[in-house]
Amino acid sequence: MASHTYGKTLLKIDNVSLEYDGRPILKNVSAEIKDVIRPGCTTGQVVGFLGPSGIGKTQLFRIVAGLNPPTSGRVTINGVDRPVQAGQVGVVAQDYPLFEHRTVLSNLLLAAGQKENDSKVAHDKVMQYLTEFELSDKARLYPVQLSGGQRQRCAIIQQILCSDHFLLMDEPFSGLDLLMLERTCALIQKVANMDELNTIIVVTHDITAAASVADHLWLMGRDHDLNGNCLPGSHIVETYDLIERDLCWEPNIITQPRFMEFVREVKDRFRGL
Ligand SMILES: Nc1ncnc2c1ncn2[C@@H]1O[C@H](COP(=O)(O)OP(=O)(O)OP(=O)(O)O)[C@@H](O)[C@H]1O
Ligand SMILES: [Mg+2]
Repeated sequence: MASHTYGKTLLKIDNVSLEYDGRPILKNVSAEIKDVIRPGCTTGQVVGFLGPSGIGKTQLFRIVAGLNPPTSGRVTINGVDRPVQAGQVGVVAQDYPLFEHRTVLSNLLLAAGQKENDSKVAHDKVMQYLTEFELSDKARLYPVQLSGGQRQRCAIIQQILCSDHFLLMDEPFSGLDLLMLERTCALIQKVANMDELNTIIVVTHDITAAASVADHLWLMGRDHDLNGNCLPGSHIVETYDLIERDLCWEPNIITQPRFMEFVREVKDRFRGL
């Protein structure tokens, strides 16, 4: 197994609960993401966040992004002793919203300007990302003139430019053909590994895709009583460490029998939720 250690806690979900009109949606959700350190490599973090429809993934996602407050508990980032604020965590929504009346370049300069006061430095950074993501020839186009995949890349760059290394991606794999799915998986890993502190949480229904990009998987579900009835309020019932299982950082891991075995295990657990 590749040698690795864990550094500081980058994101902490601390006993988060959420109720609507007294009805529990999330109950005592706790989880954390630590800096994964590999000697000689820049290694970001990717967490795949899974769970049945209606379990509360989007609700937790919004709390982690600082968009909604929890009823109790809190989310902190980078060990700072205050709840996460909107804007610290980039959100790549499913429809990849961009400013339609601005060009690709203008959209990205606007995002970069939120973190970088020096406009020359901001411009250089944007140009570097555009090259890196094969979009340099699209800089002068408007979002409506991009393909779906180009738009997705543009939205990812936009969010990474204006957040603090954190990206939440909502269903980035839905509606993609096989090639685009593989490209998106590769892209997520590439973005993660651009900086040691980059941390991406991918909310998805695609267990195989999640397992192929993530170093950890979180599975959200509910507890059951002795009669098998679901108790109200969900939390993270299972955390899978793919590094420990030797399922990370190997090219073509998805073709390996041990990977397929792992996906089967997660699917079985999912069915039992
Ligand atoms: N404003 C609201 N008021 C009351 N209940 C809400 C509100 N918003 C969401 N809920 C409830 O919270 C629960 C979790 O919803 P959420 O959207 O987080 O599910 P999800 O896991 O993202 O599902 P999916 O995979 O289908 O997107 C649902 O039962 C939903 O009805
Ligand atoms: Mg949802």
